[in-house]
Amino acid sequence: MTAGLKTIIVAGARPNFMKVAPLMKQAAEQNRKAGRERFELRLVHTGQHYDQQMSGIFFKELGIPAPDINLGVGSGSQAVQTASVMTSFEPVCISEKPDWVIVVGDVNSTLACSLVCAKLGIRVAHVEAGLRSFDRSMPEEINRIVTDSLANLLFTPSEDGNENLLREGVAKERIKCVGNIMIDSLIENLPMSRRSNLLNRLGLKPGQFAFVTLHRPSNVDAKESLAAIMHEVERLATRLPVVFPIHPRTRKMLAEFGIRPSQEKGMHLIDPIGYHDSLCLTENARLLLTDSGGLQEEATYFRTPCLTLRRTTERPITVTMGSNRMTKIESLSADINEFLGGPARRGQIPPLWDGCTAGRVLNEISGASRP
Ligand code: UD1
Repeated sequence: MTAGLKTIIVAGARPNFMKVAPLMKQAAEQNRKAGRERFELRLVHTGQHYDQQMSGIFFKELGIPAPDINLGVGSGSQAVQTASVMTSFEPVCISEKPDWVIVVGDVNSTLACSLVCAKLGIRVAHVEAGLRSFDRSMPEEINRIVTDSLANLLFTPSEDGNENLLREGVAKERIKCVGNIMIDSLIENLPMSRRSNLLNRLGLKPGQFAFVTLHRPSNVDAKESLAAIMHEVERLATRLPVVFPIHPRTRKMLAEFGIRPSQEKGMHLIDPIGYHDSLCLTENARLLLTDSGGLQEEATYFRTPCLTLRRTTERPITVTMGSNRMTKIESLSADINEFLGGPARRGQIPPLWDGCTAGRVLNEISGASRP
């Protein structure tokens, strides 16, 4: 009997957890079906996000087993956080000697672990490869480019990802379009999100509120832009109740700039919410206003009208096929008017966003590991 593939799966920050959950589950399923450990799994949590609201709740809701190893790196500047993950992940790789390390998404942990593996000669599979915003002022864009240049297998969510990678000279054989892993989690968790009582608790009705999330440094780290955005959000709240779960970075910047958002007139400023509540809000919102990557995709799946407050998106398919539109502070008010004024574009669900991505990823990794 051949030995199982020793595989480390890395999770670091909030948007990673819904990408890791289907891989863990699918690997366990494949082991069960095979009657042996096809995948000998180790889950490593870098600890980039560490508190209950940004991390703990997602493990519980998504049924992710407790990490085998927690690196506990915590917050820090870009360099400090990346370096801390590298120095703590290297000894793990040396002692565990994995056949594969699977990294997901574009956070600092993704980049740091890929770099460690590349130098130790350990094969890396990147899930959610090939996305490009073409905006190198975003830390995530640097993480994407470097991770993709190092990974051995690159799993893209849509064909535009393949095109980006081919343009950058990545060998065709290393690129596999497998669909969107986030949608695996979304579909799996729909029964639970549909039982969320958040709308009741806030006194809201489906289709009659806006859902707002903001945390990108480009929006929240400068006083002028954050104040201007908050002004627009407060105006929106006079027309339609707004639910705005505040990311820790945004909360910190609001306090630092002395901006006190109005709590009146339909503004529901709340702490960060769990995954099921977030899916519930996205499915039922009349309008989503966000700068998140993942929410653009979830809105596309639910065909919920979405305005993305960024200059660029690394997920263009959510605009060309989905219900997403890019906006900027100057045009936000007009775009909101247009979205609320008439029948919004609902879009379509892209190919392979079907809940079966994790299976395709693991089959490819198995295939690539045959002698
Ligand atoms: C990170 C990711 C971003 C992702 C986002 C989702 C990078 C470069 N950025 O950005 O791609 O969209 O996560 O949340 O990897 N904090 C807490 N509790 C936590 C974690 C963080 O309070 O559990 C606070 C920290 O004090 C920190 C701030 O939130 O100052 C920001 O955290 P950080 O990991 O630096 O980046 P994010 O802005 O969350």
